[in-house]
Amino acid sequence: MTRLQATKNDPARFSKRRTPAIRNLGPDAARFRDEAWAGLAAPHKTLPCKYFYDASGSALFERICDLPEYYPTRTELAILEAHADEMGACLGSRCLLIEFGSGSSRKTRLLLDRLREPAGYVPIDISPAALAASVRTLHAAYPDLEVLPLCADYGDSLELPHSRIEPARRAVFFPGSTIGNFTPPDAQRFLARMARIAGPRGGILIGVDLRKAAAVLEAAYDDRAGVTAAFNRNLLARLNQEVGADFDLDRFRHRAVWYPERSRIEMHLVSTEEQEVDVAGRRFHFAAGESIHTENSYKYSPDGFAELAAAAGLTVSRVWMDERRWFSVQWLTRTDSASP
Ligand code: AVJ
Repeated sequence: MTRLQATKNDPARFSKRRTPAIRNLGPDAARFRDEAWAGLAAPHKTLPCKYFYDASGSALFERICDLPEYYPTRTELAILEAHADEMGACLGSRCLLIEFGSGSSRKTRLLLDRLREPAGYVPIDISPAALAASVRTLHAAYPDLEVLPLCADYGDSLELPHSRIEPARRAVFFPGSTIGNFTPPDAQRFLARMARIAGPRGGILIGVDLRKAAAVLEAAYDDRAGVTAAFNRNLLARLNQEVGADFDLDRFRHRAVWYPERSRIEMHLVSTEEQEVDVAGRRFHFAAGESIHTENSYKYSPDGFAELAAAAGLTVSRVWMDERRWFSVQWLTRTDSASP
């Protein structure tokens, strides 16, 4: 942030850097506090998973992506690498690429390398640090590409920036199977919203993690090195620092469980003992073994996801999978527009 501050105060340096200042439209501390209060007051305590991603949470997530147990990133990257040409053909020329939860934009580069005359790239991320770093890297690697970053909670309504080049179509890129963090009804609404953003001739290129053996899933969300546990506990560290809470991180244990009948992995922080925690002046009681539910990660069957997409007015036009059928990347187009 200090770097953005410095460029803002020095117009000469600003024009030379060509890295646009990024306005932070993401949730502030008051909103974090209110959402934490609401979640912790619920009969089954919860915290919103979007708050995983501050500077240290995004860095921990990058480490998760490299863990031997965490297959999604590696598998999705291999699918993107193998089929990026076809994906690029789906996106077509003069496409405006919009990415939700862009993080390091590492996967996006595989697409950007194949796009013909892209109209621009709109990375949207809740973490200002992650966004600033990726925009800097992208500017260096793609000097001719117009990058229009948006620091925001993509769950909020957004006003899309206009690109200099008039786009032939808009495409939403939503990799990583982050769609799995939504319950199916919320996922349907979110898909419909992305379809609106993409517009009649647009589409959605989305990563969808698939159902598989419990042991594989649970290891992916409870790695031996304890990185996912640290990622989970970072929520409490953030509450301590940003909202003013006194969570003792050692008194909460990370737990990840696969529920096949719910088709989701749940992550929890389990209180190791009975305790009281102060969160910005409100006290919350925890029984021994009581948990805070911090994340759902739904896993779909290809048919199950096609049904969800159909309910959102989308047609699965293309599906790419790895040979083990662990992960899929799908090109969704609007059912109301004749697909080429
Ligand atoms: C970034 C949401 C796709 O659900 O697999 C990784 C987040 N949580 N390990 C996922 C996550 C625990 C991840 N997504």
